[in-house]
Amino acid sequence: MPVYPDAAALAASERALTERSPLVPLCEVTALRARLARVAAGAAFLVQGGDCAESFAEFSPEKVRRDEQLLLGIGSLIASAGPSVVHVARAAGQFAKPRSATMESEAGISLPSYRGDAVNGRAFTSASRAPEPERLIEAYEQARATLTLLGAYRLAERSRDMVYASHEALLLHYEQALTRQDPETGLHWAGSGHMVWIGERTRAIGGAHVEYARGIANPIGLKCGPTMAADELLRLIDLLDPDNEAGRLVLIGRFGAAQAGSALPSLMQATRRAGRRAIWSIDPMHGNGSVVRGVKTRNLTDILTETRTFFEVAAAEGVHAGGIHLEMTGSDVTECLGGQACGGESELGRRYLSHCDPRLNPPQALEVAIAVASLVGRAAERRSDAA
Ligand code: PEP
Ligand code: CO
Repeated sequence: MPVYPDAAALAASERALTERSPLVPLCEVTALRARLARVAAGAAFLVQGGDCAESFAEFSPEKVRRDEQLLLGIGSLIASAGPSVVHVARAAGQFAKPRSATMESEAGISLPSYRGDAVNGRAFTSASRAPEPERLIEAYEQARATLTLLGAYRLAERSRDMVYASHEALLLHYEQALTRQDPETGLHWAGSGHMVWIGERTRAIGGAHVEYARGIANPIGLKCGPTMAADELLRLIDLLDPDNEAGRLVLIGRFGAAQAGSALPSLMQATRRAGRRAIWSIDPMHGNGSVVRGVKTRNLTDILTETRTFFEVAAAEGVHAGGIHLEMTGSDVTECLGGQACGGESELGRRYLSHCDPRLNPPQALEVAIAVASLVGRAAERRSDAA
């Protein structure tokens, strides 16, 4: 959590958010839970994806359009293999990043790390790196504009499926100020987005992020990395989904291609043996980072390997491989390596627009989608053979 130097300014931003309308209504949150319950039952597939970090500078109606078109395109490829698809964008709130290091050094100068546009600026100056609570309001306004655009694009194509919005619930000042209570049911929900997730660095049992997520009715994602032990996972599930409700919890594995095969079986065994309905999904991005020629990147080969491993382990453990979670963009970027349209390492810096982690460009994302479609199809065949 950022430490804001000006407590009064933070309180003012929190108050302003409290007075604004929630970005998403409870009925849509409930609808997403019902859609995800179908995923939990093995009848549908979750496609979640978008920017690592949304930025104020990169925002435009065209960008929102390109990103949702890519998400829907991936969804329709996967749907062609059989399942109905639930589309969830990493958008309209994905403005804050957890950082491994609180400080960053350049040319002997040390400054606070960039933590996402909702917190501070990316420029390497002390003024820009100071956390500014007014940015929370700017993030809210951009999220609202994004949701309005998504609604308008959907109306323009009458039969088109709903694109839900999700982000990491990292900034609890923002989340809490946008939490609302339904007067009829008494339920609290995060008004900041349809689904929120808990990141790999903030999933401590008893920690503030888990405590916050316990209290809201939204579908919750939980990132599960290679250090997660099976008993720890079961304790987190007890906290986040005490009533074992289909559609409440999405376990998002992110192990890395080299570790997925050893880390995932015991976790899947644990949830299956405990009779847990939580959905298993795979994020083949966050365990597969590397630095090439000084540039943060990811290789499509590793992303595909981890994805395949996920499906293999799920089949072996008798678990529904329920979803995929990607960092991708509808824009023509050169941030990840690999794929037929990729120019190779020398191209990496050419169009590198990400404010944080490297994203798949459309040809790369579609390549992953084609692989997923075939894996989903094979899993369905196996199930019908077994039946
Ligand atoms: C992310 O999804 O952008 C992220 C930081 O993931 P993780 O918490 O899994 O590292
Ligand atoms: Co990321």
